[in-house]
Amino acid sequence: MTNWNPDLYLTFGGERTRAAADLLARVPVAAPARVIDLGCGPGNSTALLRARWPGADLTGLDNDPAMLTAARASDPGVRWVEDSATWWTASAPYDVVFSNAALQWLPDHAGVLDRWFAAVAPGGALAVQLPVVHPRSPLHRLVWDVAEAFGVADSGTVCHASEFYYDVLAPHATTIDLWETEYAHVLDGPDAMLTWLRGTRLRPLLSALPDDEARGRFEVAVRDRLAAAYPSRADGRVLFPFPRLFFVATRR
Ligand SMILES: C[S@@+](CC[C@H](N)C(=O)[O-])C[C@H]1O[C@@H](n2cnc3c(N)ncnc32)[C@H](O)[C@@H]1O
Repeated sequence: MTNWNPDLYLTFGGERTRAAADLLARVPVAAPARVIDLGCGPGNSTALLRARWPGADLTGLDNDPAMLTAARASDPGVRWVEDSATWWTASAPYDVVFSNAALQWLPDHAGVLDRWFAAVAPGGALAVQLPVVHPRSPLHRLVWDVAEAFGVADSGTVCHASEFYYDVLAPHATTIDLWETEYAHVLDGPDAMLTWLRGTRLRPLLSALPDDEARGRFEVAVRDRLAAAYPSRADGRVLFPFPRLFFVATRR
């Protein structure tokens, strides 16, 4: 798989960090001593945690070296850890376990969330956001179609229904707050949509193609389908609908 590219990812840093801010706003923990950001990426979500809880002992964890290099440069005061969030367990409990836009890349959400919630101290919170693979969104369908046409296996990203996450967390939760938001991001046309996807969803597909020529053709095919599925407004911009699922559970 191609490594993550922090600069490309942060091309849309405002839009991507908006979901982290909306998630954080619902975390009902006033003054946590220990906080961790799982799948912290270049540190954009971790910066929000630092701003809300300046006195907290803060850790950012990610398994991508390039993302962590960018994160380290963003705030030397955070403990940055290179590790997999999939198998992560805590040696001491955390008051807040936070993860924005990372869980969708991990397998076995029930097992992962069992481990993440077990790391939360009584009265603390687990807060997670992930993109929804929505049946009414043409985005995922068109990426699947192009992947199939190019003979590339598309394992896609994973998001279950909210009931799934409720059932996993409820046995150990005092409260569970779940909601879905569909952002309508205003982007500068289909090329901008392609750039957005190149930084995330298309990474594993592009890396599975044999060479740059095939990657170029693949991107043109995706771009053309995006242009057809999301027509430009009168000013040339497009509305890029992006549904996301959020949940915040407090630990019993
Ligand atoms: C879309 S970025 C999210 C970055 C940031 N949290 C934000 O709110 O924008 C997803 C991050 O999850 C990380 N990631 C994916 N799988 C992971 C895993 N198994 N363990 C740790 N990090 C992982 C990627 O390296 C990437 O930095």
